[in-house]
Amino acid sequence: MRIGILTGGGDCPGLNSVIRALVLTGEKRHGYQFLGFRDGWKGPVDNLTMPLDGDTVRGQYDRGGTMLGTSRTNPLKDPALIDKIKANLKANKVDVLVVMGGDDTLGVATKLGELGIKVIGVPKTIDNDLSATDTTFGFDTAVSIATEAVDRLHTTARSHHRVLVVEVMGRHAGWIALHTGIAGGADYTMLPEQDTDLSDLCGAVNREFGPGRKNYALVVVSEGAKLARMKEQTVQDDSQDAFGHVKLGGIGAAVAKAIEQETGHETRSVVLGHTQRGGSPTAFDRVLSTRYGVFAAEMIHQGRYGQMAALQGGEIVAVPLASATEQTKTVGPEWLEVLKVLQA
Ligand code: F6P
Repeated sequence: MRIGILTGGGDCPGLNSVIRALVLTGEKRHGYQFLGFRDGWKGPVDNLTMPLDGDTVRGQYDRGGTMLGTSRTNPLKDPALIDKIKANLKANKVDVLVVMGGDDTLGVATKLGELGIKVIGVPKTIDNDLSATDTTFGFDTAVSIATEAVDRLHTTARSHHRVLVVEVMGRHAGWIALHTGIAGGADYTMLPEQDTDLSDLCGAVNREFGPGRKNYALVVVSEGAKLARMKEQTVQDDSQDAFGHVKLGGIGAAVAKAIEQETGHETRSVVLGHTQRGGSPTAFDRVLSTRYGVFAAEMIHQGRYGQMAALQGGEIVAVPLASATEQTKTVGPEWLEVLKVLQA
């Protein structure tokens, strides 16, 4: 059997560990052959391939990014592109396509599965916003990087008696901000799930400059968050990607300006941006992505097409692909209550 693999959407620490585990398990246990499709869905559309075998994936347990490359190509925009994918899979004698991606990439995989292509999904996104899985690989790494940054920003904020606003990734789901805010001891955390009242935020900031408090403040803001007085999310420009996503960014600076104007405390903002996606995966993500890769090989062996490997209650299980993407997994009210207590 010949297995195609592609990685789509934003890159994510752990992708290479999944590829390594999948190829080694598939080769050694089941005698499968593999073919890499380069640059996301662009690969099967334009027939961009690369050889993949035990030798190619050797040592890829700790390397960030994706050895296959990625893109945000959306073949659902044009039926002719779907026909090209079908033709190229056939020409390359690919029996099964393993797709690693977030909601956009797996949304395309779901559609192809419905059209009769044998697809298997692996959940990837640093945002952790896919349903049907407790967590995606890459999220732990992103939170670790952001928390380390926040730890560092505490010391400079303390020295200058400043407010520091840290903008982290997360378009519609604030999981990275939530975890970073808790792990990094933020005084206030802004999430896309709930608009923030400026007076509430400034109250929390002012409190930290009050008697017996630490005389500086640290605020974590998700890139998709808003102040209640804002109509829209803050964007970098008017452009959209092939899936219709705007380029978010700038809320941290806007919030910093508003805090400084309102409280009079000197305020700076920092955007962590793609740093959160770069570099080596944490040990947790290396192990989780290896488990996903091993399981994906077994899913092929069991013929579990149209399904995705998912982590549920500590076990890796197979779930329908559609269940991962039909709803964005957002931060629920129980977490908002936790933040309220911590920020008081
Ligand atoms: O892949 C998810 C994500 O990291 C989002 O959190 C972020 O908004 C987006 O990707 C950034 O995309 P790009 O890499 O295209 O700038």
